[in-house]
Amino acid sequence: MSAATADPRDIAAAVAALRAGRLVAFPSETVYGLGADASNPDAVRRIFEAKGRPADHPVIVHVASAKQLGDWARDIPPSAFALAEAFWPGPLTLVLRRRPHVSDLVTGGQDTVGIRVPSHPVAQALLQAFGGGIAGPSANRFGRISPTTADHVRDELGDRVDIVLEGGKSDVGIESTIIDLSGPEPALLRPGMLDIARAEALLGVPLRSPGIASPRVSGMLASHYAPRTPTRLVTPDALVAAIRAANARVAVLARRPRPAGLAAVDWIDAPASAAAYAHDLYACLRTLDRAGADLILVESVPASSDWTAIRDRLGRAATRPETP
Ligand code: TXA
Ligand code: MG
Repeated sequence: MSAATADPRDIAAAVAALRAGRLVAFPSETVYGLGADASNPDAVRRIFEAKGRPADHPVIVHVASAKQLGDWARDIPPSAFALAEAFWPGPLTLVLRRRPHVSDLVTGGQDTVGIRVPSHPVAQALLQAFGGGIAGPSANRFGRISPTTADHVRDELGDRVDIVLEGGKSDVGIESTIIDLSGPEPALLRPGMLDIARAEALLGVPLRSPGIASPRVSGMLASHYAPRTPTRLVTPDALVAAIRAANARVAVLARRPRPAGLAAVDWIDAPASAAAYAHDLYACLRTLDRAGADLILVESVPASSDWTAIRDRLGRAATRPETP
């Protein structure tokens, strides 16, 4: 991929911006992040302003390597090092108990901190040159679809972000898997494309689903990752009838070609495999959101475990926000 390696001058400019407390959007293998110096609360505050995100939501701290875990977390259980060894750099975020110095703006006032080592070469180059931790949520306006290209970031944030580093299309395409190791039992806070069975084998226990006492995760809000166009999920059997019955202009995300004679303002025949579907998903939703349709219909995906994170995101995309 042409933009997958960074120009050293771009990295130097981005590091200078971070040190000056400014915002740098950076590519990662999951989605693009909106980065600020995690040790500078004023800089982190700017992230919330740019996103329009409530200030009590925690953000992930990105670091160059697992060696920096102890800079941010304490009482780190051996299981964290086992998962780090297996999956970092990569699409896994670990929630651990925070060191006392970690800002409440980063942790959302909780006693935990989310940490990730991304694998994208531009993110790695940035983190290595910066040296410290980069606080970074996904680089979208709050509640909207995460960006998987630099153009998406510019569409979302415009001049609210000082620098956007180019890094091509994000490989994974949906946000990291979040595993909470801060409590008595490991919990899965957000599914991603990580192999959960492999994580559970390493942990030696099944991952708990989050209960009401679990930390807040904005990705867990019912309506998130949402197109502006009303979006509904339909089963493959019901799709054609739903298009015919809709008294509206319909755009479709399906996993088959458009049948002849079916009226739809746009039709995307998405990839058959879970990995390829995840890679394309957010770009597809953005395309359909721009198609001028009154309704987006998404054909539901398989029930198998490799599609879990995709079902999660589609379910949230298809829930209408409670407030406009
Ligand atoms: O793949 C990703 O995780 C991307 C890339 C940029 O790293 N980041 C991302 O950030 O998706 P964001 O903020 O959009 O989603 C991260 C989620 C949020 O829902 C946040 O609430 C949760 O992680 N989180 C962060 N720190 C946490 C903590 N200490 N406890 C519980 N959840 C936490
Ligand atoms: Mg996000």
